[in-house]
Amino acid sequence: MQPSPAASAAPHRFCVAPMMDLTDRHARYFLRLLSRHARLYTEMVTTGALLHGDRERFLRFDPAEHPVAIQLGGSDPAALARCAAFAEAEGYDEVNLNVGCPSDRVQSGRFGACLMAEPDLVAEGVAAMIDAVRIPVTVKTRIGIDRDDSTERLYRLVDAVAAAGCRTLIVHARNAWLDGLSPKDNREIPPLRYAVVGQLKRDRPGLSIVINGGLQTIADCRSAIDGLALDGVMLGRAAYYSPWLLSEVDRALFGDARPGPDRSEVVEAMIRYACARMAEGTPLASITRHMLALYQAVPGARAWRRVLSERAPRAGTAQAQAIEIVHAALACVEPDRAAA
Ligand SMILES: Cc1cc2nc3c(=O)[nH]c(=O)nc-3n(C[C@H](O)[C@H](O)[C@H](O)COP(=O)(O)O)c2cc1C
Repeated sequence: MQPSPAASAAPHRFCVAPMMDLTDRHARYFLRLLSRHARLYTEMVTTGALLHGDRERFLRFDPAEHPVAIQLGGSDPAALARCAAFAEAEGYDEVNLNVGCPSDRVQSGRFGACLMAEPDLVAEGVAAMIDAVRIPVTVKTRIGIDRDDSTERLYRLVDAVAAAGCRTLIVHARNAWLDGLSPKDNREIPPLRYAVVGQLKRDRPGLSIVINGGLQTIADCRSAIDGLALDGVMLGRAAYYSPWLLSEVDRALFGDARPGPDRSEVVEAMIRYACARMAEGTPLASITRHMLALYQAVPGARAWRRVLSERAPRAGTAQAQAIEIVHAALACVEPDRAAA
């Protein structure tokens, strides 16, 4: 597929955030059916998992997912460089480094948001990755750590990674409080400060700056991009829990006027995908769990969710049964289509 001119000019205009346990390959395949141009990010994969774990499983994705970025978690430059090279060889379009995750496990491994305090180490990692690959290396960060509301740390980090060759930063517009908040609270309690991200773009106009945090609608995306003159937006929870929003993205943000899919076409495509994955041993529920919110706010949505969440986990390996279950769910929301 040829990207639209807007997508080539602004590859990060709309991104779906990396989210552990949510943006696995099945979720990304599903989201891709809704938008041709959204840039999709993997869950964070640690360098340790790629170097010592089942690398092939961690890296695998479907070619339909392009453009797709892998997010790495780690801080050892040599390990990051090796993992970036694995990702490039596998066909990823971008390597993103996590400098924003606040979990304890991540802090003890000396990566994630605590790296905001170590800009030189991050820059070394970025330089090592850029040396190792030709695909873009990007950084996802917060605007600060703990209760320090100054932007000094942010600028030190941004300038260090930019000097190392990073051209694109994704900025989650709140601090990470590393002193006791859970990761979930850390996505809600530290205040959002979009103005800091807008100022960063004005101060560093040569960098591509993508804003993240709390954006819910296409109107929010537009006002962030236009109002703050940013290069793009990244949505996490809204993209996952209101996925139909992605069906507007190509037209509204990438100027691609081609008609998008309708929901039942997406479901039929997911059935074909599920059958292919089930033949490789993937349980049906690992795929349908990502589809639960597709019919959000449509009459029958609750029954759609119930059929999928009750029946899919008990499904066997027979494809005919999988098809029957998903069609039974579809009948709750699109009775005419499901019967056809
Ligand atoms: C369940 C979940 C898992 C997440 N995992 C990651 C992750 O692996 N890497 C990362 O950089 N951010 C992770 N995040 C943070 C998101 O990428 C994003 O920065 C955050 O949710 C704010 O964006 P939102 O308000 O649009 O959801 C996660 C968020 C959620 C909800």
